[in-house]
Amino acid sequence: MQMDDKKKHWLDITHKIFSAVRFNESSKLYDLAKESVLPIVEIGSYVGKSSIIMAGASMEGNKMPVYCVDTWMDNGDGIDHFPEFKKNIKHYGVEDKIKVFRGNSAKMSFDFKLNCKDKIGLLFIDGDHSYEGVRRDFITWSRMVNGFIAFHDYISCDGMTKLIDSLMANGADIDLTNSLAVIKWPQKG
Ligand SMILES: C[S@@+](CC[C@H](N)C(=O)[O-])C[C@H]1O[C@@H](n2cnc3c(N)ncnc32)[C@H](O)[C@@H]1O
Repeated sequence: MQMDDKKKHWLDITHKIFSAVRFNESSKLYDLAKESVLPIVEIGSYVGKSSIIMAGASMEGNKMPVYCVDTWMDNGDGIDHFPEFKKNIKHYGVEDKIKVFRGNSAKMSFDFKLNCKDKIGLLFIDGDHSYEGVRRDFITWSRMVNGFIAFHDYISCDGMTKLIDSLMANGADIDLTNSLAVIKWPQKG
């Protein structure tokens, strides 16, 4: 099936932004974000590629806000990436769609609950990739989800793999696009 022009536009223009998220994974995130009828939350935004794709998709879809949760300081290089993130979301015209929650994702889950009473339609987990970190993000944030949870770096990252394998062992149905694992949540109902 031919990709629609608007989707192609968003995937093309964000292609050059530095990120480990590949084309097929971006395409899947775009579809999920476009379809979401509830707010979208991203844990781990870095310089904004996946944030911009989801915000662009949401603009073409149900116009849900995209909440970006990141310290912008935990990428392992000691650099504060927040200025580049801000520059990119402005440059790509999605600044108004994105709401920033700067801080540790565990703490930010409390701030989010206070500020956003809606459930989350799409949760994208791509922050702390250690098993403890992914597990903590999953446990604290999944309670607020009614839709889908996507995880990046399945197989390529031990922490993600361990958590996702344990979900599968408990009967979860995982849809895989390269290293993007997507699960419907909650599993029942
Ligand atoms: C792999 S990058 C995210 C990539 C991004 N999704 C993209 O498409 O380019 C991981 C990000 O998670 C953030 N991070 C790591 N641990 C975190 C934590 N405990 N709380 C909040 N952010 C965290 C880092 O600062 C970094 O920007």
